[in-house]
Amino acid sequence: MKTRAKVISVCSQKGGVGKTTTALALSASFVLAGKSTLVIDIDPNAHISAILSKDSAQYTKTSADLLMKKFYSHNIIISQAMPVHYIPGGDGLVQYEKKDPFFKKSWYGRLRKKISRFDYDYIIIDTPTTIGSLLYTAVCASDLTVIPVQPELSSLKGLGLFLKTAKSLKKYMPDGFDYTILFTNVVYTPERKTAIDSFFKSKIGKKCSTEIIEHDCAFIDELFSCNPDTGRLSSSVTFQKYNKVSERFFI
Ligand SMILES: Nc1ncnc2c1ncn2[C@@H]1O[C@H](COP(=O)(O)OP(=O)(O)OP(=O)(O)O)[C@@H](O)[C@H]1O
Ligand SMILES: [Mg+2]
Repeated sequence: MKTRAKVISVCSQKGGVGKTTTALALSASFVLAGKSTLVIDIDPNAHISAILSKDSAQYTKTSADLLMKKFYSHNIIISQAMPVHYIPGGDGLVQYEKKDPFFKKSWYGRLRKKISRFDYDYIIIDTPTTIGSLLYTAVCASDLTVIPVQPELSSLKGLGLFLKTAKSLKKYMPDGFDYTILFTNVVYTPERKTAIDSFFKSKIGKKCSTEIIEHDCAFIDELFSCNPDTGRLSSSVTFQKYNKVSERFFI
């Protein structure tokens, strides 16, 4: 019998750090490795859904239904853009946070339970930037949380708070909280190189991914055009780094 899908969420307490890019790149990487992949978008902005649908489709069922109402496997959408399935995000997700205004945590386990019946090799969850129930619901549903970070000292404080809260939710994660920190969209300056090599790595240690994803617009254009089969994406140095990151999660 196939084991449960490996669930990876891409989370950060900071906006614009490369969560959606990382979720898309890891999905493309799994697809190219022949793995069946489901993307769940729990961002009300539905950025990754727009990329995967290649149009502004009006979805009848979204991840808000998955979280709060009835949702069946046949409600999952087959992407027109790349060979993945996805559950779109959307405005309805705002209700989820509204219904849990005091972070009662009672909902945090529900996504894990609901997706356990889906039959995929990998499930990738793209999350919103808001620090709230959606973010922690994703963390609790995951075997691994990938945290994109930019090597600025200002990121460190927010990261510390996020990790502290996530670690406090261990009881909702049967196998504990596991995470990896991934530097993304990095433009090297001597200061940033020093920050990564010494300060960040010494503070965060083994939880830092060895791959550093650099700023690479050609990679972004190729990835967002959603043609993972083209040699151009596979030959991109940045995509190969994402491949290395994903290989470590192979079942
Ligand atoms: N490696 C990279 N090279 C160049 N641009 C990048 C790279 N990674 C991300 N970007 C760009 O940075 C911007 C933010 O990335 P992305 O949308 O993935 O971040 P996000 O964390 O999902 O943002 P949000 O908080 O809005 O959801 C985008 O314009 C994206 O194209
Ligand atoms: Mg995003």
